[in-house]
Amino acid sequence: MQRTIISNLKNELGKEVKINAWVDVRRDQGKLIFLDFRDASGKVQGVILPNNSEAHSVGSEVRPEWVLEVLGKVNPRPERAIQKDKFNGDIELEILSISVLNKAETPPFEVEGDGKEVSEEIRLKYRYVDLRRERMKKNILKRHQSLQFVRNFYSKNDFIEIETPCLTKSTPEGSRDFLVPARIDPGKFYALPQSPQQYKQFLMSAGFEKYFQIARCFRDEDTRGDRQPEFTQIDVETSFESQEEIMEKSEQMIIDLVESIFPEKKIQSKPFPRLSFADSMEKYGTDKPDLREDKEDENLLAFCWVIDFPFFEKDDDGGWTFTHNPFSAPTVESMGELMEKRNIENIRAAQYDIVLNGYEIGGGGLRNYTPEALRKVFEIMGYSNDKIEHSFSPMLKALASGTPPHGGIAFGFDRIMMLLLNEPNIRETIAFPKTGEGRDPLMEGPTTVAPDQLDDLGIAVQD
Ligand code: AMO
Repeated sequence: MQRTIISNLKNELGKEVKINAWVDVRRDQGKLIFLDFRDASGKVQGVILPNNSEAHSVGSEVRPEWVLEVLGKVNPRPERAIQKDKFNGDIELEILSISVLNKAETPPFEVEGDGKEVSEEIRLKYRYVDLRRERMKKNILKRHQSLQFVRNFYSKNDFIEIETPCLTKSTPEGSRDFLVPARIDPGKFYALPQSPQQYKQFLMSAGFEKYFQIARCFRDEDTRGDRQPEFTQIDVETSFESQEEIMEKSEQMIIDLVESIFPEKKIQSKPFPRLSFADSMEKYGTDKPDLREDKEDENLLAFCWVIDFPFFEKDDDGGWTFTHNPFSAPTVESMGELMEKRNIENIRAAQYDIVLNGYEIGGGGLRNYTPEALRKVFEIMGYSNDKIEHSFSPMLKALASGTPPHGGIAFGFDRIMMLLLNEPNIRETIAFPKTGEGRDPLMEGPTTVAPDQLDDLGIAVQD
């Protein structure tokens, strides 16, 4: 007999079926044993009647989280037992026979409920059990639907998804790199990308014109509620488009995503309001203002754009550093000052951030697409010619190869999911996140490695 998935049981009323499922809850009432079953599609209540002695004896042995194959008959529930608000609340599976496919040790915590009372370390150590809970299943499912939506949105708008390498060279996005030792070249290291920034610009040089990628990014920085050492960006770049066009397209994507996948949400104002960096700092004391008119309403989304960022700020040593991205273009008005390297503090970047309910959910800009102008940025930051050559010669060469004007944006996908799912941190939206301390309790990483692995790499670990 073919397996019926639990969400299809209601179409099989009165028939005998086979299901494969986990025991969700077991209630032994002596004569009657109730077993609630769960598969990926949903839940259903099963009952073993007193006259079925064989099923009764297996049923008294099974425990939550055991995996079973069950033959049963789908019955309508008697009127008084109907639970209208519950999935499959109007049917019941009369259990005819049970075979145990796999037993389970007593789970480390209850799978029922939202799990908020369980320590996160334990939840992550047994993540495969934690992910069985409804809240987590819903989050992962919504994440999937959102990813598919984003892919479709950009594909339909003639963007193509192009994968870029994870083993690459350090890209300056303002954080520390994760380094990977190169066995073939002892003493040398790859870096994991902080973002695909340079590659997406190379793709513009290559003439693809419209690129997107659901990209994994790596940053060795302290983990917080809205930060993970590896996270996902919706990364986008286009050629020959103005800042206005890029912002409009991005805004449309976000609005369509919310309205299609999270219809219960209300967007406070469309089009999204725009604030200059200076106004935002003056009015709200932050460049990530929370503009919600009603902070009690968990379905209210207040988006805004923050624009007109200063290009440079003073670093700890009193020199100039970039505020966002060294590859940004200055605004048209600031180009003269950049090229002449004067009034540095007044230079504005053609850079935009998108903020939702007080969180930065994305940022981007037009790029500095001539090698001469990009060189000026590095000179202002005091980089020597050697450093410019060592770190940026591929980009400078690409810009000198016939590169079109281009610009783009990257959204922090995990943060968007956190806010749309009303979760307190991004870990609740990621199947296998790291802890607040950046560890993976499930795989027990990071770990030491065998001495011969280090020998292969020519690496000695200091005590
Ligand atoms: P930026 O560094 O602003 O821009 O990153 C874009 C967005 O990614 C999210 N984000 C993070 N999410 C989770 N964990 C982290 N550690 C983390 N760091 C950043 C934020 C942020 O707005 N290449 C440029 C984009 C561009 O200019 O096109 C970039 O990476 O939501």
